[in-house]
Amino acid sequence: MFLITHKEKLSPTITKYVIIAPFIAKKRKAGNFVIIRVEDNGERIPLTIVESNPEEGTITLIVQSIGKTTKLLATKNVGDFILDVVGPLGNATPIHLHGAVACVGGGVGTAELYPIAKALKSVGNTVYSIVGARSKDLIILENEMAEISNELFVTTDDGSYKRKGFVTDALKDLLDAPHGISAVYAIGPLPMMKAVSNLTKKYGVKTYVSLNAIMVDGTGMCGGCRVTIDGEMKFACVDGPEFDGHAVDFDELIMRNRTYTDLEQISNTQFNHETIDADLSAVAGRKEFV
Ligand SMILES: Cc1cc2nc3c(=O)[nH]c(=O)nc-3n(C[C@H](O)[C@H](O)[C@H](O)COP(=O)(O)OP(=O)(O)OC[C@H]3O[C@@H](n4cnc5c(N)ncnc54)[C@H](O)[C@@H]3O)c2cc1C
Ligand code: FES
Repeated sequence: MFLITHKEKLSPTITKYVIIAPFIAKKRKAGNFVIIRVEDNGERIPLTIVESNPEEGTITLIVQSIGKTTKLLATKNVGDFILDVVGPLGNATPIHLHGAVACVGGGVGTAELYPIAKALKSVGNTVYSIVGARSKDLIILENEMAEISNELFVTTDDGSYKRKGFVTDALKDLLDAPHGISAVYAIGPLPMMKAVSNLTKKYGVKTYVSLNAIMVDGTGMCGGCRVTIDGEMKFACVDGPEFDGHAVDFDELIMRNRTYTDLEQISNTQFNHETIDADLSAVAGRKEFV
């Protein structure tokens, strides 16, 4: 059982949690993730370890509520427990001294990118960061990213904040400028990472992406996270989650990630109804309604 010691809303759908997990905190490196199960009989879902504090024995997770399990997690508060937290899993991100790098985060992917950008800065790289989201309320960690970047650019699809457009628009400008960018790290939705990789391929710039394949065990046993890299089958959990963006078969992965869409929608709808029913019976039970 893992105690939640801090909970903070970063946007209407994105929440930060600090959890007591001393062994994971001690071993975790940038790029590692955990697999959590919120309650008994619950689904197992992978989440990146955004930060860890070995002295306090805590890890930080930042989670977007998009379906049943992430919404169930959002009902947990400080003082509540998460049933299982397994990790650290996956390979740590390769952190090299490239010179100048661009770090590109889309939506909640910025949370996964932050520890990597921080590690890249700490070994002496000049870090240009780009953070993008559909709209202003979905931009997260702007101050944190600004702190560990030499320069930060923010884009929103709808123009509600900073530059209107996609992260690839800002990245193209960076690649065209004489910054000498020699590596790009991109984390976000699959179509975004595909677009970034297509762009950087034209410039011949090495690109690392973090693949959010569907995972179950996270240890290489179930085969759920199969991805095709340069024509070869790999497991995102044990061979990744970072891969060379130019070698990933994104179309296959996008298709595979849609495998359970109908079931995910059913359990999401059921969960929303159960929550509304529970709220209604709580209201009905109150004195003024009796
Ligand atoms: C290595 C890795 C790190 C991740 N880190 C983060 C993070 O730091 N923060 C964050 O908000 N999200 C992260 N994700 C995505 C997160 O795991 C999914 O959003 C979550 O599993 C959705 O579950 P759900 O039941 O709420 O939604 P569902 O309705 O079940 O699914 C919504 C979408 O999430 C994806 N998904 C569902 N189940 C899984 C699963 N078991 N494994 C992977 N993807 C799944 C599918 O693409 C699906 O279409 C990460 C994924 C991976 C693979
Ligand atoms: S999650 Fe099971 S093999 Fe990767």
